[in-house]
Amino acid sequence: MSAKGRVAVFISGRGSNMVALVEAAKAPDFPADVVLVLSNRPDAAGLAYARQQGIATVAFDHKLYSDRESFEHALQHTLESKNIEFVCLAGFMRLLTPWFVGQWRNRMINIHPALQPLYKGLHTHERALADGVKIHGCTVHFVVPEMDAGPIIAQAAVPVLDDDTPDSLGARVLAQEHLIYPMALNWLASSRLSIDGARVSLSGADPREAALIAPALS
Ligand code: GRF
Repeated sequence: MSAKGRVAVFISGRGSNMVALVEAAKAPDFPADVVLVLSNRPDAAGLAYARQQGIATVAFDHKLYSDRESFEHALQHTLESKNIEFVCLAGFMRLLTPWFVGQWRNRMINIHPALQPLYKGLHTHERALADGVKIHGCTVHFVVPEMDAGPIIAQAAVPVLDDDTPDSLGARVLAQEHLIYPMALNWLASSRLSIDGARVSLSGADPREAALIAPALS
């Protein structure tokens, strides 16, 4: 069996998606290992979990750098020194420059708590509720210079319920994030994804029809 892909996960806070990736990667047949957790915030809660797991952690406080370029060169140097092959952004709250994105073209993925191309940016659950949509969800995509855009690898949809608050809807979406992010990393690290413009195809996919209808038909 070939060596596992070496993954760095970038976080800025809680890190629950990072935890989902680390836990999934413990499976013997998972094609990638999380070998580094990197944060732009030294106080990111997720760093403690990573340390407990024996994973290398590093914090680059962006406020200590004079500009984005010097911050990103520090990141890049660390990634190269650790022979990282794939980067997973998981609640990483810094915009990355086209230079950095270019270094990781087709090797850096992100999770966003909305069904792209809807609701880029922050407060996605509030905005979905304000619009009255019946279906909301999350997206894993390749990172491109434009924020919360890029070829879509996987999406999960959830129903919006009448009594939802941003928190309850966010929790329903987050549960799906924790499922689709490891799945997408698995596909990426096992070279099953091919990109054609905005479209990503998965080799060996089992085509089946699935529909989420909300409210459910009675
Ligand atoms: C998640 O909702 C993710 O989709 C978004 O930021 C949040 C991070 O949560 N990009 P966590 O730190 O992974 O718990």
